[in-house]
Amino acid sequence: MSAFVTLQDVVKEYKMGEVTITAAGGVNFEIEKGEFCVIVGPSGAGKTTVLNILGGMDSCTRGKVIVDGKDISALSPKELISYRRFDIGFVSSFTIWCRT
Ligand SMILES: Nc1ncnc2c1ncn2[C@@H]1O[C@H](COP(=O)(O)OP(=O)(O)O)[C@@H](O)[C@H]1O
Ligand SMILES: [Mg+2]
Repeated sequence: MSAFVTLQDVVKEYKMGEVTITAAGGVNFEIEKGEFCVIVGPSGAGKTTVLNILGGMDSCTRGKVIVDGKDISALSPKELISYRRFDIGFVSSFTIWCRT
């Protein structure tokens, strides 16, 4: 059986004039249904980029993102609205500042 979430060779590039910034350079992972998963990496590694793509808030330049059998990398902007509304939940990360 295939995984609940599959990212296959996911690339996200930002073109800024002559310069291409690779925010995610070929990401591959699988998450099983019910699995608790943490994405870790240094600042700038592409964590936010990958989560935004998985959350349907951004699209990848290349690669496949499959969630519950649906290839969300192939969805139109309108279909992505339905995906965000009905299929996926997103809780923004936050920082708590503590004065000592
Ligand atoms: N909108 C954008 N335009 C250009 N570069 C971006 C953009 N968003 C992210 N990046 C670049 O992509 C890389 C990954 O960013 P990001 O996903 O925010 O990393 P993380 O969340 O792991 O710190 C960084 O080098 C960042 O500067
Ligand atoms: Mg981030």
